Amino acid sequence: MRTKVAIIGSGPSGLLLGQLLTRAGIDNIIVDRVSRDYILGRVRAGVLEWGTVGLLEQAGVAARMFAEGLPHDGYSLAFDGRDHRIDLFALTGKRVMVYGQTEVTRDLMDAREVAGAPTVYEANHVQIFDFDGAKPYVTYEKDGVTHRIDCDFIAGCDGFHGVSRKSVPEKSIKTFEKVYPFGWLGILADIPPVSHELIYANHPRGFALSSMRSETRSRYYIQCELDDKVENWSDERFFDEFRRRLPAHHAEALVVGPSFEKSIAPLRSFVAEPMRFGRLFLVGDSAHIVPPTGAKGLNLAASDVYYLFNGLQEYFAEKSEAGIDAYSERALGRVWKSVRFSWSMTTLMHRFPDTGDFGQKIQESELDYLIHSKAASTAMAENYVGLPY
Ligand code: FAD
Ligand code: DHB
Repeated sequence: MRTKVAIIGSGPSGLLLGQLLTRAGIDNIIVDRVSRDYILGRVRAGVLEWGTVGLLEQAGVAARMFAEGLPHDGYSLAFDGRDHRIDLFALTGKRVMVYGQTEVTRDLMDAREVAGAPTVYEANHVQIFDFDGAKPYVTYEKDGVTHRIDCDFIAGCDGFHGVSRKSVPEKSIKTFEKVYPFGWLGILADIPPVSHELIYANHPRGFALSSMRSETRSRYYIQCELDDKVENWSDERFFDEFRRRLPAHHAEALVVGPSFEKSIAPLRSFVAEPMRFGRLFLVGDSAHIVPPTGAKGLNLAASDVYYLFNGLQEYFAEKSEAGIDAYSERALGRVWKSVRFSWSMTTLMHRFPDTGDFGQKIQESELDYLIHSKAASTAMAENYVGLPY
């Protein structure tokens, strides 16, 4: 097989890149090691920056998002028994869209199918070769047969545990990492959310987040121990703990009901530099991970795709390498700003082992400053809605 761009990974970054390339007439093949259903079964991001919304529009997959997604003009920071609204729209003129990653992925997969662009699911033992030369290629096994894809470029969109980053010689890559001493326990349930807007709660018992997928489906999270197990958390125990971490008026509004998804995610900040190695580009979670506080992971995957797609389009249309040469620097500039924001929001909102009473007072005082200073709220709001590309 031969294609212009071989894309490893059928998550949001691989699918969005594939869709933009296909619409620009640049052929591409996606290979993923798992099945379509498995990918659609993963519950992850829920908040899209307006820049991501625009890219999905450019990719021709925005119709269902505009019909079913929930534009949000603000969110609450809760602490000290009260909550305080960050008015995103008043402070920045922008809003965010609450629309699940699962739905974004489904829309992109459907559009890819309609366009007839090829995806190989359940491709085993994917390997990438010769990306430091002019003729890179990818191999994989399917049904006991080894296949080879010759290509001009490889896009490593295969997430944190993928093969792309691991194929780069250690001496060519520098990594930066911070692991946080707690996780997030999340549930999905068909119950109305406690509030129409998201609530990020700082509480002495630990962080809590009230989010949603629709007006009838709630996505709630609580900070938990890193080594905790989902089996330790009955729905009843989860809701009791969640309720305790919310201000009273929200706690009273909590409707409970059976959850149909429950999972624990560790929190990590990670960046690999650079994001280009010859004809291999790292995109999205394969190059960087942020803790979920602030909802930046999927949005960073989208901005990487924006820079790479424009570079590749320039290359194929004009034979100019300027865009692909600038990819790593442009993407990393934005990545580090989101890494900083996610780290700072995580630090502000969670209970760390050494937070103590002093640390709690410092957090509360920072939150108090944040909500009473227009400059500080604006800084938070402009990071939350997404910095310009
Ligand atoms: P992935 O989604 O990880 O996709 C990678 C794909 O590559 C997968 O399909 C995988 O099967 C495939 N793959 C892996 N290895 C191989 C291999 N060896 N060969 C072939 N294929 C391979 N982000 C936000 O912006 N907002 C949020 O609100 C938010 N909330 C989150 C909540 C949780 C609980 C979690 C866990 C994450 C959240 N994120 C959020 C982060 C977001 O989900 C990720 O940043 C996003 O999925 C990254 O997309 P990606 O396509 O780069 O990687
Ligand atoms: C969701 C996840 C986040 O990390 C966040 O900051 C907001 C919302 C969610 O899954 O809905």
